[in-house]
Amino acid sequence: MSLLIPRNQIATQYLPIYMESLRIDTVLNFDLYIKIGGEMVLYRSADLPFTERTRDKLVANKVLRLHVSSISRGKYQKYIEQNLDKILTDQQVPEEKKAGILYDTSRALMKDVLENPTYGENIQRSKRLVENQVSYILKGQEAFHNLLRISSFDYYTYTHSVNVCTFAIALIQQMGCKDEQYIYNLGIGALLHDIGKSKISERILNKRTSLSSMEFELMKKHPKWGIELLTGTDLIEASSYYPVLQHHERGLKRGYPNGLTLDEMHEYSRIVAIVDTFDAMTTKRVYQGAIETFPALKVMFSLKGEYDCELLKSFAELMGPEGLASI
Ligand SMILES: [Fe+2]
Ligand SMILES: [Fe+2]
Repeated sequence: MSLLIPRNQIATQYLPIYMESLRIDTVLNFDLYIKIGGEMVLYRSADLPFTERTRDKLVANKVLRLHVSSISRGKYQKYIEQNLDKILTDQQVPEEKKAGILYDTSRALMKDVLENPTYGENIQRSKRLVENQVSYILKGQEAFHNLLRISSFDYYTYTHSVNVCTFAIALIQQMGCKDEQYIYNLGIGALLHDIGKSKISERILNKRTSLSSMEFELMKKHPKWGIELLTGTDLIEASSYYPVLQHHERGLKRGYPNGLTLDEMHEYSRIVAIVDTFDAMTTKRVYQGAIETFPALKVMFSLKGEYDCELLKSFAELMGPEGLASI
């Protein structure tokens, strides 16, 4: 007996998208749907231009959310990645919408990267994305806080990677760095820091109980696997490899894989070590709940010598000076 479900019985899923992600006078190669009375209705067929009139009509009818079917997800993702720089610099698009579009795009892209990490085109897409991330976050703290507000508190490797990239860029900016190329190379390494986890099974990554010593030994290989995957594509700058290899190093030689001191770690790695731990503590894991921002930072401060103290102070300032008093 066939276990295949007939195609017409598979419920199509729909992805909500921001109307602001659609550029006026571009031809969309995916269908657009709207929700009417709980039902998804085809609103506009693929290959028609999205005009000002189309948008005004939707706004007049108070339709603010559009949908794309999951079958067209790839086409929509490609469209949005091609237009991301224009959306993020468009004065007509409200700031919080820009943050939402950037976050959703980054998350979907990172999912593709982790599913297919050796595909060079995925690494090229990551590089273009980080260029957009850097120019968006460098606009100022408001941009960073908008991103922070919408970022996911559920832990998945792809959301975690996006959060770590955002935090790393914001932290180096907080430290006063203005060298965009230097910030960009950090951003790439931060986004891809856990790419080696793509070689570890979901069963181990999402295990509810503590890892066995064999599983932990396997887990500890992901920094080196990350380097192997990235050298295979040979598409990123040498300095971006540091945070991939060294983000689990801790001062006092307490980390892995090489048991380095803080001085032996590259600045990128000292930054990513902080924001990586912070994101892991403040997001919900399958085996533990999330800790609030300042209690998490307090724990990190208490681990004297494991993290770069100057960077950690700067990070705490970035997260909100009002909370610093509680540490
Ligand atoms: Fe990691
Ligand atoms: Fe990580």
